[in-house]
Amino acid sequence: MIVCHCARIKSSDIQAAVAWMRAADPTALITPGKVYRALGKRPDCGGCVALFVDVLRADQNTGVPPVLRGLRKPADRRRTR
Ligand code: FES
Repeated sequence: MIVCHCARIKSSDIQAAVAWMRAADPTALITPGKVYRALGKRPDCGGCVALFVDVLRADQNTGVPPVLRGLRKPADRRRTR
């Protein structure tokens, strides 16, 4: 399926790039911009962003790596007056 008509990127290209990026760096946070760069392409009109993100979200390799989960401290909900 063609995802980005401007850069001629198919969903299989995105999945291959994500797999390559994850294999190269298991802790990498994968973003659409990084996928474009990995494919050596640039977005033009931006009309594909929603579909591009949907394809990324559907890929199991784009989740936050386990070593990076839970790094944020929980917000302190108590207020001091
Ligand atoms: S369709 Fe992807 S940038 Fe235009």
